[in-house]
Amino acid sequence: MYSHIKTDKGGHFSLLFSGKDDFKILQLTDLHLGFGPLSVKPDRKVLDSVRILVERSAPDLIVLTGDMIYPFLPKAGTLNNEKQMKKLVAFLDSFEIPYSMVFGNHDVEFGSKAGRQELAAIIKSGAYSIFSEGEEALFGVGNFIINLRDEGDGLISSLLLLDSNMYGDGWFFSGFDCIHEDQIEWSMNVLSDLKTENSELKAHAFFHMPLMEYKTAYEKMKLGDKCISYNFGSVAEINDYFGVSKFECNFFDRAHDNGIIKAMYCGHDHLNTIALTYRDIMLVYGMSLDFHAYKNIKKRYTQRGGTVLTIRKNGDFHVRSLPLDRVVSKFVRS
Ligand SMILES: [Fe+2]
Ligand SMILES: [Fe+2]
Repeated sequence: MYSHIKTDKGGHFSLLFSGKDDFKILQLTDLHLGFGPLSVKPDRKVLDSVRILVERSAPDLIVLTGDMIYPFLPKAGTLNNEKQMKKLVAFLDSFEIPYSMVFGNHDVEFGSKAGRQELAAIIKSGAYSIFSEGEEALFGVGNFIINLRDEGDGLISSLLLLDSNMYGDGWFFSGFDCIHEDQIEWSMNVLSDLKTENSELKAHAFFHMPLMEYKTAYEKMKLGDKCISYNFGSVAEINDYFGVSKFECNFFDRAHDNGIIKAMYCGHDHLNTIALTYRDIMLVYGMSLDFHAYKNIKKRYTQRGGTVLTIRKNGDFHVRSLPLDRVVSKFVRS
């Protein structure tokens, strides 16, 4: 394990600020890497894009919010997600920057070679990787905390990584699953415990699928509700689509009541890049890097990029999008 990554109290991870005034996290999402015969070109574009974004942002940590790989036969030509994850881990290690990730709904597909537990073991094998399956009793694979600490071991900020799971009852047609009650309970308890170390603790939550509150906030903003503040980005899915779960999930309400989580970061809807602040929590859609999963997406570009979260030593933070292509047509510019 990379020397800046430590095992923290309570089985969490910790990362050191190491003499810097701020800590930069690059969120990347929905890479959909196939590493198969049908995805050679899009994969190359994804990998090149990641290199560019890492170079531009010089992050201290990279967090991938799901759908990293794509063991989907018609698009990748392979079901071997074991090989896909090994290649991704080797690629990420090449930056010599710590990285972490949560699962999306496509990292394991029907008929793919490995399940989430097997993929977790591969992720953990990375030299710069920070990943844990999380408590065995909890729903999902990959519920854990990364604490950011200063040289004196003081807690600056906590990152909560959660599995937003796949499909309800494990079956595609039952619709998207959500963060389960036991995961929520665990998250709130752990964060409350951590707050005893820092009464001003500000935490950030990373997961794949958006919460219903992303959609609610957007709809309220469209109706002119002044309680919503617009941060950046847009909704470009057809008919303002939000790929939210139809199952009841009170993660947002519990986080709001608990008051420690100040921002949430998801992926999943490749064309939505919006960030809004709703009831004191910033809801961020990461910019995606898909070049082939959505039909005709290779021709689109405004949604592609990363998201940069900068955390200062006092725990204050700033979030901005990092578009891959800054080219705007002369017509638009004028
Ligand atoms: Fe995706
Ligand atoms: Fe997804």
